[in-house]
Amino acid sequence: MPIAFEAQAQAALTRVSVDALVVVVEADTAAKGNEPALAQPLAEATKAGDFERKAGRTLYLHRPAGVKAPRLLYAAATNNSPKAVRAAVAAGLAQLKASGAVHAAVAMSGGTAWSRELAEGVVAAASDALYSYRATKPSAAKEAPLARITVLCTKGELDAVRQGLARGEAIAAGVTLARECANRPPNLCTPAFLAEQAKKLGKEFGLAVEVLDRKAVEKLGMGSFLAVAQGSDEPPRFIVMRYQGAGRNDQPLVLVGKGITFDSGGISIKPSADMDEMKFDMGGAASVLGTFRAVSELKPKLNLVGLIPACENMPSGKAVKPGDVVTSLSGQTIEILNTDAEGRLILADALSYAERFKPKAVIDIATLTGACVIALGHHNSGLFTADDALASALISAGQAAQDTCWRMPLDEEYDEALKSNFADMGNIGGRAGGAITAAMFLKRFTGKYRWAHLDIAGTAWKTGAQKGSTGRPVPLLTHFVLSQAA
Ligand code: BES
Ligand code: MN
Ligand code: ZN
Repeated sequence: MPIAFEAQAQAALTRVSVDALVVVVEADTAAKGNEPALAQPLAEATKAGDFERKAGRTLYLHRPAGVKAPRLLYAAATNNSPKAVRAAVAAGLAQLKASGAVHAAVAMSGGTAWSRELAEGVVAAASDALYSYRATKPSAAKEAPLARITVLCTKGELDAVRQGLARGEAIAAGVTLARECANRPPNLCTPAFLAEQAKKLGKEFGLAVEVLDRKAVEKLGMGSFLAVAQGSDEPPRFIVMRYQGAGRNDQPLVLVGKGITFDSGGISIKPSADMDEMKFDMGGAASVLGTFRAVSELKPKLNLVGLIPACENMPSGKAVKPGDVVTSLSGQTIEILNTDAEGRLILADALSYAERFKPKAVIDIATLTGACVIALGHHNSGLFTADDALASALISAGQAAQDTCWRMPLDEEYDEALKSNFADMGNIGGRAGGAITAAMFLKRFTGKYRWAHLDIAGTAWKTGAQKGSTGRPVPLLTHFVLSQAA
């Protein structure tokens, strides 16, 4: 169940009637301006060494004297930046997850002014801390009872806080949708499932959604997309979504998401270890759906098109073979040297298709290369574009959303690696600079529009004990879209 957020002007924290009061303690603030009932236990615990001001540290008091709320939780923030405050709120709420609290309030102790950004961070923290996947796990722990979160601020801060909460809620809903899709097992999250999700969004928010099946895609001549899809018994889908927030003739932004619902590698089959994680290979598609969810709620004045080529990459008697040459929608031929470099093949045709919308700019989002994970790890998504203004807008959006990306090079010299003796290009460029040569491949299919590519192979999901989709980069994309609105 989604949590309800609200803002309330309230200076006397001791008198707030909630189940739990979360107080963010910014670094060394001596809780200035705090009421004694709050300041004193904090000072004592600090002196006793029980509450270090380190990220993730919390201090819990049950039925503290002189405080109306029966649960008081101090959460340490290393400073008052949006990042540190968000981390502190997440730690506090994660602890409350295992309590009986239904209604929590969040306040700052050090007198840091609430801003739109800080309030947005509270929602992001809450949705991070409280999300759990249960669609195919009946034995999952019961949902936390926490249902309502109030941000306590001053009267003058109410407007900013309300705006931040609204933006945060829309983004969180988008992130959750992306996570729900990506976490679904690949026998359930199929191309048809993604298409259904798009249709559902369309119905709920009045978006125009068109779903092309294999026949329609054949008719268009998407030979590159079809080459990947042909090895699977699961039928492909090409999803087109349109949000109209500006005039009909207003050029749209176009988002293109890689929708490989399972990437076995095909005939160039992957090793078995961790192959299950290739269900997350539709993370780009999920982020497009999630961004549409967020944008539909925030209603910025611009037009947005979402394109999702969706299929499985499987080995079979019908599968594409290394050495096969196919003709893409652009007319360029491709020698498929490695069937595991399939993401670029389905994106190529989608990028050509995008041209018909006369886009203001096109952003593609893809779990494209293992090489990008080696280059950037799991913190930053890879950003590739020749357009400096677009790069700076995307980088800023990522910073504001705390969903960052890092720009990578795209020099023409890297294109050399794609030469083929049997087609206009090969689909791989060797191990060196693998994330860049993949981007160079995509670049050959971009039209006369501004273009950027986000490689989210390292950021779309987590491995290990925390295995699961992150919903990234929905926050980055939503901020970017909002920044482009009139
Ligand atoms: N979906 C993978 C990329 C990937 C691999 C993302 C591991 C996250 C973790 C993509 O389709 C792929 O297989 N890429 C190949 C390209 C290579 C064959 C040129 C890769 O990265 O190994
Ligand atoms: Mn692959
Ligand atoms: Zn893939």
